Amino acid sequence: MPDLNRFQQGPFAPVEEEITAFDLPVTGTLPAGLNGRYLRNGPNPLGLEDPGYRFWEGHWFLGPGMVHGVRLRDGKAEWYRNRWVRSRQLAEAMDEKWPGGPIHDDMDFAANTHIIAHAGRYLATVESGPLPYELSGELDTLGPCDFSGTLPGGFAAHTKPDRRTGELHAIAYFWAWDYVQHVIIGPDGKTTSATDIPVPGGPMMHDFALTEKYLILFDLPVTFSMDAVSAGLQIPYTWNPDHQARVGLLPRDDTSASVRWFEVDPCWMFHTLNAYDDGGRVVADLVRYESSYDVSVLAGKGPVTLDRWIIDPAAGKVTSQRLDDRRQEFPRVDDRVISRPYRYGYSAFVGETDRAFLQPSGDFADEAFSNALFKHDLAHGTVQTHQFGRDATAGEAVFVPAAPDAAEDDGYVMAFVHNPDRGAADLVILAAQDFTGQPVARVHLPARIPLGLHGSWIPDQ
Ligand SMILES: [Fe+2]
Repeated sequence: MPDLNRFQQGPFAPVEEEITAFDLPVTGTLPAGLNGRYLRNGPNPLGLEDPGYRFWEGHWFLGPGMVHGVRLRDGKAEWYRNRWVRSRQLAEAMDEKWPGGPIHDDMDFAANTHIIAHAGRYLATVESGPLPYELSGELDTLGPCDFSGTLPGGFAAHTKPDRRTGELHAIAYFWAWDYVQHVIIGPDGKTTSATDIPVPGGPMMHDFALTEKYLILFDLPVTFSMDAVSAGLQIPYTWNPDHQARVGLLPRDDTSASVRWFEVDPCWMFHTLNAYDDGGRVVADLVRYESSYDVSVLAGKGPVTLDRWIIDPAAGKVTSQRLDDRRQEFPRVDDRVISRPYRYGYSAFVGETDRAFLQPSGDFADEAFSNALFKHDLAHGTVQTHQFGRDATAGEAVFVPAAPDAAEDDGYVMAFVHNPDRGAADLVILAAQDFTGQPVARVHLPARIPLGLHGSWIPDQ
């Protein structure tokens, strides 16, 4: 066996086969109105035992994507499937014909970070150059997607749907660009605009935020580094103390790409929770890593907190409030409130995910496990915790409204949670308004699901 790092072991250990299972057992009662698919993407190296098939270089972010999906309909869990995303390299390693399709700048990659639906397409997404991959509703790879030839460059892992306009927004970045690109995909699935925004220094820009008036850009001091490439770092992005941290407001109705920037203290951020306009000010809630962050080992020096940034263009400054000081990640809201004032957010306690390299051996304390989900009531400043048992690692949770016009928080929170008694994953469905109570349903899946990255509930149309 090759040397394994923490992200190849325990809750991160990749699975080795693709499974299709029907009529899954359920504890509790699946809400009859939940008709659709819960899909989640994450890195899953192929063939760890065979160095010839090791399609990554050891960093968690570089493993080829595997999408895990559960199909719910009429109160039944119809199927579970897990499928690798077939890049050319992966398809050839699996002795399959690659479906073919467009490639941006020789950057073909089995997109491993998120899976979304837009304009009738299921899209596995990744950032830093490659195109998304389109999957079928049964998770078979259809091929890379450049939105019918309309996307000029690569795409992004994180996107923001605007439910008012039906548009999908993204900020694409690529090491060879001295700009980032604001891309809008229209309701018809074609690029309606792609605007270059000059940003020197090549920052990694994993996520952004949307309000009704602005896009909010986070230009933070993790930047592309040729020295890192020369030094053999697997991720060519390093902490750069010379890069001024700043947050930018790009007016949505201004096509001149003129961003107003505001300096902030050095920090790192993977994810925003949400953002909105508040009179003349702009509010952005995000998970912030204080001080420096080393993306090559996925560890920071300071605390990880849920913070509120209030950007005041009139005063020319950003002020910050602490919303929650517990280590957490994967912040999500009801997609319907993206860009608007909102009250509720959901996130996952970060245990092992964050400590993986910090404690390379030995036993973990209970708090080292990612075994809790949080529900934030931002109006009251309170947090509810749904605690799972030890070893019950919980991934990102997504909110699903009970009905298309249901009130915010009237619905369900679902996540893959490891069930240590069975050695396999459950799809756990909580009633959002009884967050700490027993799950309304647990769908028992036939296999383990490694801790992964992002996913979506995709309702039937
Ligand atoms: Fe992310």
